[in-house]
Amino acid sequence: MFMELWKKRAALVEKNLSVELKKNPALEDKLAQAMQYSLMSGGKRLRPILLMAAADAVSGSGEKFLTVASAIEMIHTYSLIHDDLPAMDNDDYRRGKLTNHKVFGEATAILAGDALLTLAFEVMTRQENISPEILLKVMQEMSIAAGAAGMVGGQSIDLESEDKKISMSTLQKMHMAKTGALFKAAIRSGAILAGANSEQLDALTIYAEKFGLAFQITDDILDVIGDEKNLGKPVGSDEKNNKSTYVTLTSIETAKNLAQKAVDDAVDALKNFSAEADFLRELVKFLLGRNK
Ligand code: IPE
Ligand code: IPE
Ligand code: MG
Ligand code: MG
Ligand code: MG
Repeated sequence: MFMELWKKRAALVEKNLSVELKKNPALEDKLAQAMQYSLMSGGKRLRPILLMAAADAVSGSGEKFLTVASAIEMIHTYSLIHDDLPAMDNDDYRRGKLTNHKVFGEATAILAGDALLTLAFEVMTRQENISPEILLKVMQEMSIAAGAAGMVGGQSIDLESEDKKISMSTLQKMHMAKTGALFKAAIRSGAILAGANSEQLDALTIYAEKFGLAFQITDDILDVIGDEKNLGKPVGSDEKNNKSTYVTLTSIETAKNLAQKAVDDAVDALKNFSAEADFLRELVKFLLGRNK
């Protein structure tokens, strides 16, 4: 049931992303191809899946919000294109294919990222079956999470921390922002769209924070012990760039324990939810054994 629902919803997202790409096509062919190349090259589609799962946990309405769910995947894909650029992590593979700048050149990769970020907000305005007030609240969540106080800010801490030994609290702050912020926005947005009350929203926010932490700790671990074929991206990227990660600051063993603790806390945060939150419970536990 868990894997089937994930696959079914990921397929809905795939389809919707390609429809949305065509609604307001890029003026220039190379740019259009670059946007399509990264957006439609697979990926786990975790953030849209989480958005829908959070809406399910609140009112069983996940698929109603496919439009906003697709939009967050555009923000995420833009972040990956820029993260791989030579000025950032300088990586050659992503989602099992050459990175965007390797195929289209740096300038077009930068523009494809910019265009996907902007398109995401255009797409959100097309979400149906929701009041303008709630949609505005969601778009505010998304913009704060994507920007300097969220993902971009975390990426900046990440780059500033290269070649340095940082404290555990800085590392945590960096992870919460560069990865956690978008997960949190996905989950909170799903909950807000579905009409969550403040108690439900608070609980889901804690779940989201723990989810983001567990996710980035496992990402750090996989960068050391993962398999490039499964991951679709290079291992050893962090070491190459002298990054501070959970593995460098602690050890693989400790990092695994910390990921386990974050997963337990995430599950615990959902204690007042019924079986409608089972997918969220399964999803966070899945992180511990993931290989991609
Ligand atoms: C990778 O995210 C980037 C990080 C935030 C660590 P994902 O592992 O969700 O990447 P895709 O979307 O499945 O390619
Ligand atoms: C980047 O973290 C997270 C983003 C905001 C894209 P990483 O640099 O560790 O992500 P990967 O390992 O390249 O996917
Ligand atoms: Mg990076
Ligand atoms: Mg990277
Ligand atoms: Mg990584």
